[in-house]
Amino acid sequence: MADRMSMVCLDDFEDFARTYLPKASFDYINGGAGDELTCVANRHAFNRYKLLPSVLKDVSKLSLHTTILGHQVDFPIGIAPTSLHKLAHHDGECATAAAADDMNTMYTMSTYASSTMEEVAEKAPNCVKFLQVYIPSESGRLFLVDLIKRAERNNFSALVITVDVLVLGTRYSDMRNNFNIPSHIQLKNANRSFSNIGLPKFVDRSLANFSIDSSITWQDIKWLKSVTTLPTIVKGIMSASDAALAVDYGAAAVWVSNHGGRHLDTVPASIEVLQSVVSAVKGRCEVYIDSGIRRGTDVLKCLALGANAVFVGRPILYGLAYNGKGGVKDVLQILRNELSAAMALSGCRNLSEIKRPLLVDEYALSKL
Ligand code: FNR
Repeated sequence: MADRMSMVCLDDFEDFARTYLPKASFDYINGGAGDELTCVANRHAFNRYKLLPSVLKDVSKLSLHTTILGHQVDFPIGIAPTSLHKLAHHDGECATAAAADDMNTMYTMSTYASSTMEEVAEKAPNCVKFLQVYIPSESGRLFLVDLIKRAERNNFSALVITVDVLVLGTRYSDMRNNFNIPSHIQLKNANRSFSNIGLPKFVDRSLANFSIDSSITWQDIKWLKSVTTLPTIVKGIMSASDAALAVDYGAAAVWVSNHGGRHLDTVPASIEVLQSVVSAVKGRCEVYIDSGIRRGTDVLKCLALGANAVFVGRPILYGLAYNGKGGVKDVLQILRNELSAAMALSGCRNLSEIKRPLLVDEYALSKL
């Protein structure tokens, strides 16, 4: 294992994972759709916003605390849903969630997790846990209702409905590698619900057959809300008009995301549409964002544009590959430390002091 002292930023964990994981697994995690233009844009777009610090503000006492859907968290950086954590480490989602629990931040579990919600709830009893779901066709509704009831029983705080993958995108690397789920890894979370409703386990190893329904509409969000008491978060919003619709359909939060550039290539970077989404929801619900967040300054920029919290996908899996729960904590701690330093250096003592005037884009900069 690489020396922890040499792991100073999130890129170091990616570099570690690139050499440590089997190529097909690394490519599955790291890859993006098509020419990966959106993947690249997700990173680069942060550079278009510059920070304009205020000085001499006594930043000796900083607070990163906030509330998310009414729950106290220590800092506004959570774990995005990603499938199959056992590709990265044999402790899988239990280690990831336990890291979030130790650090008192949010953990989002994928429907396609390689551990069950029950296992995760035992290892991470205290942190804010969200369950991510896709809405299946009518014939799959019993399965989803069982998943939701399990989330309610296991003290999950909200459902994250992913709406940006009605068909799978094309990832050339997965096609070239003929990527299939390795035989030692099971979709344990989904299989528990299949078994509860008397259906056979999902044994197909091909990602192409993940049960995603391409016919769902906003009416299905209405249906989902009718079968749960949990708040719903709509993930995969990239336009002001969809954000407004999500609020109209009762979302407790909208989650700006292009899925880390994994499905539709050439869509804008998430940060580029954040401000329009924040304006559209007009404070009627919380706003989260993911895709390409790798630095504390990235987090600061998202907060300045009005996000309540940010979420991180791939780097969590790289931390997991590095050292299980400890590696995930390392990744979260680095981001948290970087955010804290960026706040202090910008003159922000707490999250409510992070405001839009902290940012200037390249055009405005030329006018100063
Ligand atoms: C994902 N993502 C994802 N999203 C979701 O809603 N359900 C899922 O099961 C998955 N699975 C998944 C697997 C892997 C390997 C990756 C990398 C991503 C998307 C994820 O939640 C998030 O939107 C992106 O990962 C954010 O981009 P970054 O932080 O990875 O750049």
